[in-house]
Amino acid sequence: MLYFFNFSNQPGNKFKELRVYPYTDVGPFILQNPDAFKFTSTELNERANAYGTKIFAQITMGLGRNYPNLPAPSLVHVYRHSGEVSPELTRDQIKSKIESVVKASKIAKDSGFSGIEVHSIHWGYLLDQFALSMMNHRTDEYGGSLENRLRAAKEILVGIKQECGSDFPVSMRLGLKTFVKDFEKASLTGENEAGRTLEEGIAIARLLESYGYDCLNVDTGLYDSFYYACPPMYMPKGYMVDLAEKAKAAVKIPIMAGGRMNDADIAEAAIRDGKIDAVVLGRAALADPEYPNKVLTGHTERIRPCIACNQGCITRLQQGKQPTCGSIQQRCVKFGMSCTPL
Ligand SMILES: Cc1cc2nc3c(=O)[nH]c(=O)nc-3n(C[C@H](O)[C@H](O)[C@H](O)COP(=O)(O)O)c2cc1C
Ligand code: SF4
Repeated sequence: MLYFFNFSNQPGNKFKELRVYPYTDVGPFILQNPDAFKFTSTELNERANAYGTKIFAQITMGLGRNYPNLPAPSLVHVYRHSGEVSPELTRDQIKSKIESVVKASKIAKDSGFSGIEVHSIHWGYLLDQFALSMMNHRTDEYGGSLENRLRAAKEILVGIKQECGSDFPVSMRLGLKTFVKDFEKASLTGENEAGRTLEEGIAIARLLESYGYDCLNVDTGLYDSFYYACPPMYMPKGYMVDLAEKAKAAVKIPIMAGGRMNDADIAEAAIRDGKIDAVVLGRAALADPEYPNKVLTGHTERIRPCIACNQGCITRLQQGKQPTCGSIQQRCVKFGMSCTPL
């Protein structure tokens, strides 16, 4: 993960790049070198805090069948690897992964992070695979009923609260609806849902609240329905807001929502109308890291918009390259060339 800090008030130091890599293919990176993580992320947090900004560390349990050779809750087809099946996690391996997320969370807290976001019951990553009946065929306490399929998410929360304190905030990234008809068959209209219906998404939101999660960061889609996970320009701006509103009506904890919130008027209206509690900016923040400041200062017309082309960011990531934004000026920042902010 890459963070840009704007130090334009400090001569000769316009942008400083700090890097913190939050995970590897198999689980939290933090545990592989806690000291290095602490060293870089303490500075990151101190600098962010000086601007009145708080950062949550997002910590993953793993990626599971989204990639080959990684263990999953059950023997399921590996995404885009025809004929390959992911190995099944043993009970002991599940316990050990939960413990890793908890340990990593404590290190993150000690490194100055203001909270944790558990990654994630979204995009079909490992914790999502536990939660989805189409991917979880276990017969032990981690499979079967919805509560069993959420057991790992619950145990992670209980562990973090024990290690980090009950007042240390914990969020969950939650996909409210998967939009798939089958493995690798997206359902553009959302009909014939084979994964998670909105009703089940809302039931999960309620259960997560009852376990003690402090807020939910909601979106949609799996790798198998990427159109809904990382929506291209054909998707309406703010398409998530109406779904998120339904989750908000079902729980008392705050609901944050992202997904093409690259129009400040739509984003502002979603909060003003009480549909969501906070706006999540993904690619929009890559395209213009100054988006929030431009809203704050009333210059929304100067926001450099994310056009949802998916070229510079997610495509580069999928090619194993550092994600950036196809927007020229942002590339200038990335490669250290001169940059004139809009
Ligand atoms: C390059 C890239 C990396 C991402 N990495 C993560 C991640 O680590 N965790 C996560 O929850 N979402 C991740 N996302 C998804 C975004 O959080 C967001 O849900 C998605 O981009 C749609 O929202 P947007 O229209 O605001 O970009 C990533 C998206 C992109 C483009
Ligand atoms: S490359 Fe830039 S403009 Fe295109 S989707 Fe990614 S962030 Fe948005």
